[in-house]
Order: sequence, then C-alpha cells, then structure tokens
Amino acid sequence: MLSEKMIEQLNEQIKYELFSGHYYISMAAYCASKDLEGFANFFIIQEQEERFHAMKFFHYINEQGGDVKIIGLDQPKTDFKSLEEVFDLAWRHEQFVTKRIHKLMDFAIEERDHATQSFLKWYIDEQVEEESTMLSLLRKIQLVGGKGHGILMLDGELAKRQFTPPAA
Ligand SMILES: [Fe+2]
Repeated sequence: MLSEKMIEQLNEQIKYELFSGHYYISMAAYCASKDLEGFANFFIIQEQEERFHAMKFFHYINEQGGDVKIIGLDQPKTDFKSLEEVFDLAWRHEQFVTKRIHKLMDFAIEERDHATQSFLKWYIDEQVEEESTMLSLLRKIQLVGGKGHGILMLDGELAKRQFTPPAA
C-alpha cells in the first residue's frame, strides 16, 4: 500500500520522466537539423529510455493499487546554439532529475515505505549512469572544440546506439 501523498509524488515523477523524453526529442531535432544523424539517434534512443523510466513508475503505482494520472508536459527548449550547449543542458537536466529521485527517496524513508525505497534504488543507480553518459559526451565535444573531424567521428559512434531495455 502506498500513501496518497506517495502516489501523488510518484505520479509527478512520471511527468518528469516523460518531460525528459520530450526534451531529448527536441535535442534530437536540433542535431538532425545540423545533419548530425548519430547525435540525433543518441537522443532518440535516450527518449526511449526515459519512456521506459516513466513506465516503470506506471507499473509500480498500479502494482501497489494506486491510480496513475498523466499530467500535461511543459514546452521544451527548441533554440539551441551548439552541440556543446545541448550536452551541457542535458547534463544539467540529469542532475535535476537525480535531485528529484533523491527527494523521492527521502520521502519514502520519512514515510518508512520500504517497498518504495527498494523500488527507487534502481533509479538512484541509473541516475549515476545517466549523468556520467551526458558528462562524458560533453567533455568529448569540448575536447574536439565542438566541430570538425572529431565531431564526425563521435557522430559515427553515436549512430550505433540502440535501445536495450535496462535489466529491471
Ligand atoms: Fe529518466
């Protein structure tokens, strides 16, 4: 059983996960507009990951007898200046999501909700990976100065990214 307040908080997190996907699709559109299909692919796959994150909350709420409520998404940013800006924003966004997940965990601890603490553990580990992926790409883009052959090499690498549902 989940408390009403917990159901509300988990539902809010579904919104953040779906918004993350929305934001990444917007970043994919920017990359595609610059003919960087590999970078676009990276964000398209990232959107699938975010959807997976959202649906994991969806199933958990249902499993615990709560009702899922889908809330409207905000307009994501669409006017990006550079690939470096895109990855800087993606990295900052993941840090924001990490804070949200940690707040959820704090609340589950406060409520002595052991099942939700156990469920959230997966997201805590996942966020370490998400932040690291974005930061590593940001640093590589900075390393090659955001343009030229280095970017084309990275673009080729990222074209290979595929979606594999993370082990639950
Ligand atoms: Fe996520």
